[in-house]
Amino acid sequence: MQAETILIGQVLSFSGHPFHLDPEEAAQIDEAVAFGDGKILAVGNETTLLAQFPEAQVTRHPGKLILAGFVDAHVHYPQTAMIASWGKRLIDWLNSYTFPEEGKFGDPAYAVEIASRYLDLTAAHGTTTMCSFCTIHPESVDAFFQAAQARGQRVVAGKTCMDRNAPDFLRDTAQSAYDQSKALIGKWHGADRISYAITPRFSPTSTPAQLEAMGALWAEHPDCLMQTHLSEQTDEIEWVRSLFPETRDYLDTYEQFGLLGARGLYGHAIHLEQRERDQLREHGAGLVHCPTSNTFIGSGLFDMAGLMAEGQRIGLATDTGGGSSFSMLRTMAAAYEIGQLRGTPLHAAQLIWLATQGSAETLHMGDVIGNLSPGKEADLVVLDLASTPAIAQRSERAETLWEAVFPTLMMGDDRAIAEVWIGGRRV
Ligand code: GUN
Ligand code: ZN
Repeated sequence: MQAETILIGQVLSFSGHPFHLDPEEAAQIDEAVAFGDGKILAVGNETTLLAQFPEAQVTRHPGKLILAGFVDAHVHYPQTAMIASWGKRLIDWLNSYTFPEEGKFGDPAYAVEIASRYLDLTAAHGTTTMCSFCTIHPESVDAFFQAAQARGQRVVAGKTCMDRNAPDFLRDTAQSAYDQSKALIGKWHGADRISYAITPRFSPTSTPAQLEAMGALWAEHPDCLMQTHLSEQTDEIEWVRSLFPETRDYLDTYEQFGLLGARGLYGHAIHLEQRERDQLREHGAGLVHCPTSNTFIGSGLFDMAGLMAEGQRIGLATDTGGGSSFSMLRTMAAAYEIGQLRGTPLHAAQLIWLATQGSAETLHMGDVIGNLSPGKEADLVVLDLASTPAIAQRSERAETLWEAVFPTLMMGDDRAIAEVWIGGRRV
């Protein structure tokens, strides 16, 4: 295979798990990466790659960090235009800001406009794959997948299902949620780089009948992911307890209806009981940490260190627009701050791993995206480690690579994103 492109700089990849090994030993720095036909062909030393692929177009990025594109494991693209809405906690925030906005997605033209705006904004922030909730409208799913397909992007999304505790204009039924989700799976799942996630919003907005229908659908399509929310705020947990008096805990409201599994993604997962933690680990389920959202909506402090130590599968996400940023750099900074509040600071290598390989693994895509190694899809980001005067004056005095990278993780934004490549194409 002939490489089309070689990027030369500080190429970061992971050969191990930075929470289970010494973080710096889990990471590897090379001089160059070669890719062609949408795939990574080689990572290694500059002279070797230049000799191996003499016809490739070569770009030098001295001092910059070249790594896998960011993977955002939990977002709501329809909340793009209402991000940063003031002053409410979860349930009031949903009712005051989120539901009125999501109601607009019955208009296909609006859905197309926001899907395109969202993918432009996230590409500018270096995010190359995301797993998104849509709205109850099948049109909102079509709009998102069409926009992603046109960009050659690997994405996951699904129709958000709700048949209670939501306004009339945002309610489906158990049957229509099943029928529409099934039709969307048939239409989109496995087309190009697109995959479908069965998406009951969270147990307060689904009747037992709808959760059961979602569980049945997942059993019929076990290769689909299933995404939802779990134990985000204490008021929400109380509400779940009153809505499902028979269940042992919040997770049980999913478990009883066949909605707990390895391909399940559980957003937030902050206030977990021991039984829930045990069940999530035994099933190999994916927990998604949404740190800017958890501080912005006032939800709580995710137990990264404890959950990692017990062997959970964990990814990182913006939770746009409950999260206050589209940036995975900003999200890493918030994850670091929450770690500090719990007495467990995260290493820069751990933060980057969570935003790439870790999130990819929760999506069961760790073998295709999230790392730079031969055979992986060519989704890459080039990070400028001196993108503002404030960052430059700090990274300048760094004595190690990790010390040079850390200020960009803490203080960086879209100005740090020098280049983005999706499927081997520069965007
Ligand atoms: N729980 C149920 N729906 C949502 C949502 O849209 N955002 C957040 N942060 N939590 C939720
Ligand atoms: Zn969410």
